[in-house]
Amino acid sequence: MARDLVLDQLTKKFDSITAVSNMSLEVREGEFVCFLGPSGCGKTTTLRMIAGFDTPTSGSINYDGEVINDVIPQKRNFGIVFQSYALFPHMTVEENVSFGLKMHKVPKRKITERVNELLALVSLGDQKHKYPPELSGGQQQRVALVRSLATYPQILLLDEPLSALDAKIRVNLRAEIKKVQTELGITMIYVTHDQEEALSISDRVIVMNHGYIEQVDKPIEIYKNPNTRFVADFVGTSNFFEGQIEGNRVTDIKTGLRFVIAKDVLAAVEQSQKKISISIRPEKIIFHRHSGQVRGDLEKTNLKEGTIEVITFLGVIVRSLVSVADQHIIVDITEKDFEKNLFRMGDRVQLYFPPEDFLAFGL
Ligand SMILES: Nc1ncnc2c1ncn2[C@@H]1O[C@H](COP(=O)(O)OP(=O)(O)OP(=O)(O)O)[C@@H](O)[C@H]1O
Ligand SMILES: [Mg+2]
Repeated sequence: MARDLVLDQLTKKFDSITAVSNMSLEVREGEFVCFLGPSGCGKTTTLRMIAGFDTPTSGSINYDGEVINDVIPQKRNFGIVFQSYALFPHMTVEENVSFGLKMHKVPKRKITERVNELLALVSLGDQKHKYPPELSGGQQQRVALVRSLATYPQILLLDEPLSALDAKIRVNLRAEIKKVQTELGITMIYVTHDQEEALSISDRVIVMNHGYIEQVDKPIEIYKNPNTRFVADFVGTSNFFEGQIEGNRVTDIKTGLRFVIAKDVLAAVEQSQKKISISIRPEKIIFHRHSGQVRGDLEKTNLKEGTIEVITFLGVIVRSLVSVADQHIIVDITEKDFEKNLFRMGDRVQLYFPPEDFLAFGL
C-alpha cells in the first residue's frame, strides 16, 4: 500500500488566533505538492504540525495508515529544509551531509558512498572539503537539501527554501529540487508564497488563505479555473469587475462598464446571486489599434475604447495599462505583436473582452 499522508480536519489555534482551520488533504506517496498563500495564511504552521514540532489543537495527521499526532519528530523520519541553510559552519560539506548518518551509526564505508552519491546529485562532488562560509548561498542550500535527504526520509518538507537567494539562482535551484524529487521518487511538501515557483514545480498546488484551503489542483487548473476570487487574484494577474447580473450582462458598479458574459461562465455562479465578481486575464484581452480593424462578428458591447497610459516590457510579453472609463485595465500582448503594431504611450486603442474568457465568482 502506498505510504500516503492524510490530514483530517487539522486545526491549530494559538490563543485567540486560528492559524490553521479544518484542513483536510491527502498527499500521495511520491507526489510533489506546494502550499501556496500569502504571509500569515498558515503554511509554516501546517508544515510544523506535519514535522511534529507543533501539536494540532484538533484533527489528525495520518501517515502510512497510522495516526502520528503523538509521534515525536525524530521518529517520523521526515526531512526538513528551511529558508536559512542552517549548516554547521565549522564542519566541511562532507561532514555536514554525513552528520545524520553518523548519528544513526551507519558504517563508515556506507556513509562515504551515500555522501558521494548525494553530492554528485547536486553537482557538488568537488566542493566536499570546503566549509559553508566558503560557498555561495545557492551552493549552501544545495548542501542543506542533500543533508536532509541523507538518512532516507519518507517525506521531505521544505519551507521557503529558496527565498533568501537571488532570482536566477532560485530558478536554477528549483529545477534541481524537482530533478532530485523525480529521481528519488520522494514525497515533497514545499511551502512558498511565490506563485510562479508553486506553479512551475508542483504536481498539485494547495492554495491557502487565512488558515483555510481555497483550492487543491494541478497548476494549470489553478491558473485556468480558479475556484474563488481569491485564487484568481493571488495566482497570476487578473482584471476584476463587480456588478449586477442582468440576463447575460454584467454592469460594473464603479465604472458603468457593461460586458456580455458567456452562458457557461455565468453557470459557475449561483443563479440566486445578483451581484457577482467577474475577471479576465490580461492575455485574454484583444488589443486593436483604434482604426476599425475589428471583425464584424465580435460582440460589440465588449469593445471598449481606451488610452495606453503605461507600457512595461517584461521580456516575451509587453504589459500595458490602458485607461478605460477611469479604470486601469491590464493587457498583455507578445513583444512581437507589440512591435508590429508600434503601440506607444498615449495611443488611443480598442480593447475586446471575449465573452467566453471571463471567469465569474459569487461574492
Ligand atoms: N508560535 C506562535 N504563536 C502565536 N501565533 C503564531 C505562532 N506561530 C504562528 N502564529 C500565527 O499563526 C498565523 C499563521 O502563521 P504561519 O507562520 O503559519 O504563516 P505562513 O503562511 O507561514 O506565513 P509566512 O509566509 O509569512 O511565512 C499567523 O497569524 C501567525 O502570526
Ligand atoms: Mg512561513
